[in-house]
Amino acid sequence: MSGVATPVIILNTKAYQESMGEKGLALAKACEEVTKETGVSTVICPQQFDLAWIAHQVSIPCFAQHVDAKDVGSATGWALPESAKAAGAAGSLINHSEHRLTMADIDTLVTRCRALGLTSVVCTNNIQVSAAAASLNPDMIAIEPPELIGTGIPVSRADPDIVRGSVEQVSAINRNVVVLCGAGISTGEDVRAAIELGAKGVLLASGVVKADSPKAALLDLVSGI
Ligand code: G3P
Repeated sequence: MSGVATPVIILNTKAYQESMGEKGLALAKACEEVTKETGVSTVICPQQFDLAWIAHQVSIPCFAQHVDAKDVGSATGWALPESAKAAGAAGSLINHSEHRLTMADIDTLVTRCRALGLTSVVCTNNIQVSAAAASLNPDMIAIEPPELIGTGIPVSRADPDIVRGSVEQVSAINRNVVVLCGAGISTGEDVRAAIELGAKGVLLASGVVKADSPKAALLDLVSGI
């Protein structure tokens, strides 16, 4: 069971220019302020190189954007769950559509994350993959149709059936798994629609990272909860 309170807004800062270095810290601080002011749970996934120093400066959970199923030791350049934990991460995205993994690796990583006390968020692209991921017993599944990512067209309104179907299938297989949705989410109305479909929160990026005022964008998102 995840230690992250729901409903939750998870901000993946990807590798945008607007989230590098100090800008990444500013985004994390904006999430922290919004959580303190509203009580709504937020999580930030800083850029991998920035995770450690950002995690030590904010009170909200920081997740890695990706981890690899490599063993500790001779694994040059790979991102290990153990390294994420040592850097201060509280969890990790796994199998994001921009960083796909094999089923075997997802299974290994969910197990390793659980053993380390890291929250696992497995990203999926359709209802069948959501169902398959549920059988691996992650803490969370985030359904994100890749074709809507970065478009500003919210999955919760453009493809409600994929969210509803994922919630139904996942809950039939494993009631402990929290289902989130993402892709194109940018407003409180999008979040409200996601929650009405049964999601327990959202995973998003560009709607906040590229906003003129990330904090205002976050407050708008939170208004949908
Ligand atoms: O990880 C979140 C993501 O892939 C959705 O991106 O920019 O559509 O919110 P975006």
